[in-house]
Formats: sequence, C-alpha cells, structure tokens
Amino acid sequence: MVVSSHRREPGRAQDRARLSTVTALDAVSIITAKRDGGELSDAQIDWVIDGFTRGAVADEQMSALAMAIVWRGMTRRETARWTAAMIASGRRMDLTGLPRPTVDKHSTGGVGDKITLPLAPLVAACGAAVPQLSGRGLGHTGGTLDKLESIPGWQADVPAARMRELLADPGIGAVICAAGADLAPADRRLYALRDVTGTVESIPLIASSIMSKKIAEGTAALLLDVKVGSGAFLKTMEGARELATAMVELGADAGVRTVALLTAMDTPLGRTAGNALEVAESVEVLAGGGPADVVELTIALAREMVALAGLNTDPADALADGRAMDHWRAMVRAQGGDPDAKLPIAKHTETVRADADGVLTRLDAMGVGIAAWRLGAGRARQGDPVQFGAGVEMHAKPGDAVTAGQPLLTLHTDTPEAFPGAIAALRDAVTIGTGAAPAPDSLVLDRILS
Ligand code: URA
Repeated sequence: MVVSSHRREPGRAQDRARLSTVTALDAVSIITAKRDGGELSDAQIDWVIDGFTRGAVADEQMSALAMAIVWRGMTRRETARWTAAMIASGRRMDLTGLPRPTVDKHSTGGVGDKITLPLAPLVAACGAAVPQLSGRGLGHTGGTLDKLESIPGWQADVPAARMRELLADPGIGAVICAAGADLAPADRRLYALRDVTGTVESIPLIASSIMSKKIAEGTAALLLDVKVGSGAFLKTMEGARELATAMVELGADAGVRTVALLTAMDTPLGRTAGNALEVAESVEVLAGGGPADVVELTIALAREMVALAGLNTDPADALADGRAMDHWRAMVRAQGGDPDAKLPIAKHTETVRADADGVLTRLDAMGVGIAAWRLGAGRARQGDPVQFGAGVEMHAKPGDAVTAGQPLLTLHTDTPEAFPGAIAALRDAVTIGTGAAPAPDSLVLDRILS
C-alpha cells in the first residue's frame, strides 16, 4: 500500500483525487480480504455492489473480486447480503394485492427445455398468477424469449402496470416477458462481466444472481428446476444439490416459499431443440399430445407450483380438459402474438441416419444443444440474432429400436454452411447398442426444501 506523507492544500481537484484514492483503496481492501479467505461484512458488500452499480468500483476491480469469490466462496450470510444488495441496486416489483396467489419457476437451462411454455398457462389455469420474467439464450441452451418471439407479433416487453392487469385477469393469469432494465441492474452488469472473465462457475455467485432477479420480481413462491447432466450447466448431483440448497436458503431468507427439483438433463427434453420447433411441440402438449417426457415434467412441475401457491387443483385435469390451452392462447394474444399464425420454417434440412440396427442407448444433450446452436437456433454473444426456424428434430429417443438407414435426426437451418459444424457436434452424441432397451429413468431426481 502507498501512503502519501506530504500535505496538500485543500481544494476541489484535490478532494476529487483524494476521494478516488479512498474509493480505490476501499475496493482493494475488500478484494484482498476475500482473496485471503476473509468474510466480508454487510457494510463492505453493500458498499461494493452500490459502488459497482454507480460506476465508482471499476470493472477490473469487480472482476478481481468475483475471481476471489470463485476461489474462496461466500458464507450463507454473505450470499444473502450480496443478493439483498443486488436487489437494492434497482426496483423491487410489488405483486401484492393480486386476486390470485403468485408463483414462478426458474430453470437453470437445458437442451429442448421448453417446459415454461406449457407450464405457465397450465398453472394459471389452476388459479395461480404466474409472473415469469425470462431471458434470451446464450450458448447451447435456448432462451424462453427467443422461442416465444418466433410467434408472429409476440412482444417480450410488458410494462409493469400491464403485467399486473394480465396476471389479475382470470382468463390469462400468466405473463412471460423480459425483465426491465431496472430489475437488479447490478446483476445484469456483473453477469456480463463474469461471462467474459471466467467467473460464472461459483455457487454463491450463481445462486445470488438467479435469486436476486426472482426475489426482485415480487413472486410469493418459487419453484427451481435445477438441471443435472451432460447438457446442463451442472454435471453432477453433488453440484446441483449444492446450488439448489443455496437458492432455497436465499428464498427462505427473503420470505419467498421456495422448493427445488433436481431434474435429468443427459438427454434433450422432447423431440425438438430450436425456437419455433419447440413452440410447435409445446402447443402439441397443450393440445393433449406431445412427447411423454415433456408431459411428465410439465405436470410434475405444475403440481409443485400449485401446491406452493396453496391451491388444490390437479394440473393433469386442466391440461386434459383444454383449460391450459385456453390460457396459452389468451396469454399469446395479450402480448400481441397470433396463436394461429404459421410458425417460421427453416429453408434447408439435412437428415442424420442410424448407421446400424439396434437400440438407441444414448442421445447426448450437449451434442444436440451445440448442433442446434451451430445451426443458428442460439447465439454466441449477447445481442446476436437467432434463426427462428433453426434446430434439431429427434425422430428416436433412448430406448427406441432403430434400423440402419432410418432417419434419427433432422437438422434445420437457413444457412446450409452450418450443416458440417452441426454434424460434427453430433458425431459422438449418438450411441446405438444391442440387447434390451434400458428402462426409462424418472426425470425428477431429487427435491430440496429449506
Ligand atoms: N444464470 C444467471 O442468471 N446467473 C448466473 O450466474 C448463472 C446462470
């Protein structure tokens, strides 16, 4: 540390210089405290998040602190305070006073994970209000807003007052929309910084990032779908349990009733990965059909959400009798979309065929996710456009018998030069074995409460 020993005359320029030195020293002392394994005080956390939001703590200082946290971690108290400080960096939405109980869901992201689309109107059809602030995709997992934006006319931006009206409407009750810029702005800036500094992989930083947005959104109850497996952000049950526990604790500390389910993500969900392809599959589910795994998970998550909301309706009935479909159509229309419009279709397709007779024993979620992304369904950098029609259609799933030459996958894109990269991503993603098909495992692997 450098300590200045000579006296300066007071003055505005000197004051500014002194203040910026003090600011820098404070940030440095917080970084070094964490770097050396210390526990940050509430005041230090509040100061650093506030300073970062205002631009007084520089990006390089926040990056260094994030890296120290990746290595040293944070205690439950620190994580709760960090989350509270990120919420306080912006506006907290007030959803109290609605005529129906609020409950939301967050998924940590998986390949073919279109569950939010049928789930939100289904839970609304059971009597809850579902305020689902969602994001756009980055990397191999798609974003809910990208999927819905493939519906002609559908708008992701819904002002807060309109959101309340839609949630209160007994014929709608669900809103899936973009989070406003004033919702936990510290997290928005910090996440962008973590993304480019190798500091995403930290349980307390991930937990506080996700939960700050969900708590600021104002929901009274929250279901977390923490994905585990090759196509998920977390590959092991141990890591997924740790993240789920940290998030459930943060929810409990903030007075939000929170439950986490750990669900399997070694194989893509359903038979499609890609924006419009997934919307079409979601509509099939709402119409009473659709792939068994998507139906199973949608109903399992809906039952948890309905229970969290204190309601007593079986979502399976609301799906079967068409009430969920009615809510979907009303929800899409309320956001400018035409539920009857034709969805975008990619200009080019390519078929991947089975190279042997046998049983499909493995269809790797990560390989399929990367293929869909390379075909144009996802983006590499924030702000990049996505192709609505691009993606992967799966004609067989693990457990299905296949014969040599049978189509396994159809690849869709507007940019046929993407085919070789997508096919390369799939090369090791498919295994055809001999013998009996493996028994299907349950998708829900564990349940975590506070
Ligand atoms: N999603 C988020 O919102 N934040 C993270 O830190 C990781 C995933």
